[in-house]
Amino acid sequence: MQKKIVSGLFSGMLASLLLIGISAEAVAGNKVWITLGDTAFHQLQKLAPQTIAKDSQIVVANPGFQGLTGSMIQEKVHLVEVDEQQLAGLSAAIHQELKRCGGFMFHPNESAGRVALSTPASLNAIAASLAPSYVIDNQTVVTPMLSQMQASNIGQTIIDMSGYANRYYTTTNGVNATNWLKQKWAQMTSTRSDITVEQFTHASWSQKSVILTIKGTENAAEVIVLGAHLDSINTKGTTETTKAPGADDDASGIASLTEVIRVLVANGYKPRRTIKIMGYSAEEVGLRGSQEIAKSFKAANTNVIGMMQLDMTNYKGSDKDIYLYTDYTNSAQNQFVANLISTYQPSLSIGYDKCGYGCSDHASWYAQGYATSMPFETAFTQDNPYIHTENDTYANSGGQANHSLKFARLALSFAVELGSDGAATPGPVDKVETFTGSLTKGQKASYGPFKVGAGGSFAAALSGTGDADLYVRKTSAPTTTTYDCKSDGSTSTESCSINLTANGDAYVLLNGYSAATYTLKVTYRPQ
Ligand code: BES
Ligand code: ZN
Repeated sequence: MQKKIVSGLFSGMLASLLLIGISAEAVAGNKVWITLGDTAFHQLQKLAPQTIAKDSQIVVANPGFQGLTGSMIQEKVHLVEVDEQQLAGLSAAIHQELKRCGGFMFHPNESAGRVALSTPASLNAIAASLAPSYVIDNQTVVTPMLSQMQASNIGQTIIDMSGYANRYYTTTNGVNATNWLKQKWAQMTSTRSDITVEQFTHASWSQKSVILTIKGTENAAEVIVLGAHLDSINTKGTTETTKAPGADDDASGIASLTEVIRVLVANGYKPRRTIKIMGYSAEEVGLRGSQEIAKSFKAANTNVIGMMQLDMTNYKGSDKDIYLYTDYTNSAQNQFVANLISTYQPSLSIGYDKCGYGCSDHASWYAQGYATSMPFETAFTQDNPYIHTENDTYANSGGQANHSLKFARLALSFAVELGSDGAATPGPVDKVETFTGSLTKGQKASYGPFKVGAGGSFAAALSGTGDADLYVRKTSAPTTTTYDCKSDGSTSTESCSINLTANGDAYVLLNGYSAATYTLKVTYRPQ
């Protein structure tokens, strides 16, 4: 049950909390964390007078109003620990007393609640309006794929990429590296016509970004983005020969995503939504590649459901396994990411930290209002000390990729859990037409053409009195001797069905074998 509760996080609606069973299965004494607005908090204090807020913050509920009216809508939000049993009572009280839905958000632990409280409500509000379901329900697809992922493959990609003297955004080496990555991803996916690998050209510098697209089968317009940066830098110099292996920063992120691609393809995974895996150019010089791409997606009104950035995944320098960075990221999606870790990699520990500035490409997507997350290798002050030097080598991250493997697995679970969702686009609806009439012996009646869509079937059903016979033909009208389907039993109950591979016409002929009255019903997929 716990997983179910956790996976329903941030639905925001109390009703959904009840639906997933908190009220039915609440355990007395089991403490949970919620954030809630000031009014709801006072309701809770009526129910449980001992409740105190662990933290409180003024949040701007809708900064969009600021420009219009000069005033902001502000709300005080509190983080409290409550008995799980009190949630149902709180729900009822909010509905009865406040006559509104919503009111609190559920968090699995205190740190998750603090994340929610600290994330600017403004961008959360934008992302919330686009928020997908964060329910985790693809275990049968994800779990077998995770066990196929291998650190050695990630390690090899890190070795290959850090073999370039540098991957600086203006050097020939930097250009060669992006071309190498494009070739590698294209070759890995060459068996799939639904996967393309393209380069995104940047007008002001030569190193292109790489974008791999797995086209969604049902909801292709909804896009999941996974990213890492392919460039590197040595802050002591940026010539063609300056060594900047960037093994951890950020060959490790590219290599983690490359292992995701390998396993998705090996399993023939086809997402319902579109998944895009990106290697950004020019991150080290101000997030320039990702900024151009994110802006182009926004300009095209692309519905990016969620974005995850992997920048530095292989250096294990802190006690926790994966640190979720809370700034320039979306708290609801971060909660989902934490749930992915506890569902799919339950032995891993989760920490929270922040850069304090837009430190990687997720910030480019965040700035366009998209939901982002950035799982990072360490706490901020304990990261790889060799980055941006000639010593950011594979050997200096331990000469193996066990830490990166955790991030690759997380990225795959993120891609599949979000990529498998999305309502099916409604297919064409069958058209039904009915005709009635009567025939004398030997009299004929013709119907059509019916315009049938490619791949559709055309079915004719006859009922009535006496004995009428039914003939169906593609392309032109049938006769009693030329037809694709005939049904000529001794009553007027007849049926015929044909399939059309391409768009085409279907015709019906009725013949009175003896006098008859009839109802003809045709059902077909229109063009
Ligand atoms: N991978 C780093 C960001 C980073 C470093 C995050 C250490 C956490 C700990 C990234 O490639 C980078 O160097 N970013 C720049 C900022 C960017 C806007 C140029 C940075 O952090 O200075
Ligand atoms: Zn980096």
